[in-house]
Amino acid sequence: MSSEVISREVTRRRTFAIISHPDAGKSTMTEALALHARMISEAGAVHGKAGRKSTVSDWMEMEKARGISVSSTALQFNYSAAAQPDPEVPSVINLVDTPGHADFSEDTYRVLTAVDAAVMLIDAAKGLEPQTLKLFQVCRHRGIPVITVINKWDRPGHSPLELIDEIQERIGLTPTPLFFPVGIAGDFRGLLDRRTGEYMHFTRTAGGAKIAPEEIMSADAAQAREGDEWTSALEESELLTEMGQDHDQELFLAGQTSPMIFASAMLNFGVRQLLEVLVELAPPPGPRSDIEGTPRPVTDPFSAVVFKVQAGMDSSHRDRLAYMRIVSGEFERGMVVTHAQTGKPFATKYAQAVFGRDRSTVDTAYPGDVVGLVNATALAPGDTLYDGPKVQFPPIPSFAPEHFSTLRATTADKYKQFRKGMDQLESEGVVQVLRNETRGEASPVLAAVGPMQFEVVTARMKAEYNVDTIIEPLGYTLARRTDADSAAELNRQRGVEVFTRTDGAVLALFSDKWRLQYIEKEHPDLTLEPLVAAA
Ligand code: G4P
Repeated sequence: MSSEVISREVTRRRTFAIISHPDAGKSTMTEALALHARMISEAGAVHGKAGRKSTVSDWMEMEKARGISVSSTALQFNYSAAAQPDPEVPSVINLVDTPGHADFSEDTYRVLTAVDAAVMLIDAAKGLEPQTLKLFQVCRHRGIPVITVINKWDRPGHSPLELIDEIQERIGLTPTPLFFPVGIAGDFRGLLDRRTGEYMHFTRTAGGAKIAPEEIMSADAAQAREGDEWTSALEESELLTEMGQDHDQELFLAGQTSPMIFASAMLNFGVRQLLEVLVELAPPPGPRSDIEGTPRPVTDPFSAVVFKVQAGMDSSHRDRLAYMRIVSGEFERGMVVTHAQTGKPFATKYAQAVFGRDRSTVDTAYPGDVVGLVNATALAPGDTLYDGPKVQFPPIPSFAPEHFSTLRATTADKYKQFRKGMDQLESEGVVQVLRNETRGEASPVLAAVGPMQFEVVTARMKAEYNVDTIIEPLGYTLARRTDADSAAELNRQRGVEVFTRTDGAVLALFSDKWRLQYIEKEHPDLTLEPLVAAA
């Protein structure tokens, strides 16, 4: 495959994820994007109101019972933007979905290793919420540029300047609105395009099911139509310009500023603008550093990183799906590639695009695309697949756990299966496993970002290894990386316990942050490093 073809394919690709707190409107926005890309003809087809939660994915009984989605999926669609360099060739948008439940897990973080940009979706009435903050920190840590969307502008909420200030003050990210709302939250009339000075007036459609008609008009026409609302949008926009809050591509890519849009996913207002901004400003897939730190150009032979492994999606035949993000070259279904971790060949006969319950076969894919490999039993998150000369990418970092529980089998006779199951689930990255001598092998401590990861462990131990297990929460809430020298002193402290993780990291667990602060003050010589996003 010629490198020109690959370059052309890469240039038109945008791979992103939506980061948000539950209920901010991620599903509604996903659906609105699909509607604008004309993948569906009416909103409600993908995540119909009543069935929204169950249509996303129902791969486990647990998930069905709770009506939530545990899995990550990727949606690919073509979109012809106004900003398209070549009007004949549409852009290819990859939206990598993240688990949407409050008990989010490491999977949510791992998805962010597979994207080139993130859309931070904020509820206009709620502002920054905890899960958004956590996900934003991962984006910052990984240098992923963030586009901010203030959603639900059709409902009462904060003022634009309040929301802008909150973001700036709390996370040190400077919003640079590209489209400013005309009409306060709850009276959404349209958007001022701050770069052209034009006004986009929206008209509601019944139930927000169709693309909202847009009328583009000059500033004078907008003034005549919207009066004070237009004047006030203009004034606030000028204030932002005076404060230096105009879009700057370099600062955006450096993660210092964030282009901002005001939208209503439900009414489909501002959704086209989001797609335009993604195409125009979000970076295309770029070179990724290998384990030696050498950037691998996108035009090199095929290589990909596995960022998520999911098992048991189909209870009738228990398959295992590994999602890979292509880093370089062209992927063709059926190609036999090498698994860098084992050096073994890997046949890619069953390659699929997966979104919700829908799977379709993928025949070719390019950098930035996400492909699901079926029955990929040997693959774990962070693994590399390649063609040609060997390449290996750095492992995916493990993320700071906040929930800790012991796991033990209810009967002693199944120890072998118990151990086998633990090893497998750990290698798949379902949970982190911590051990110390006091607790012994039969009672490892599981560490997770979200407690739902524990339920996945017990469900899979039973279904796949036929071992009944009991999870018992431990009274620890945070972890710090320490070392063998500090371990003895830490173990003497109340409310602290030291463990070794399977990768060799020595972690001290603390009952709460006050305990940690006290110990840090009393023993400043101890090694206690935060596990930011990456351990
Ligand atoms: P999530 O995936 O981020 O959890 O959020 P989801 O899209 O499920 O949206 C959460 C709720 O917010 C839904 O209402 C949805 O209709 C509503 N919503 C999303 N975007 C907008 C918007 O732009 N404007 C308004 N007014 N509402 C919005 P719900 O009552 O929980 O469910 P439903 O009865 O509408 O399905």
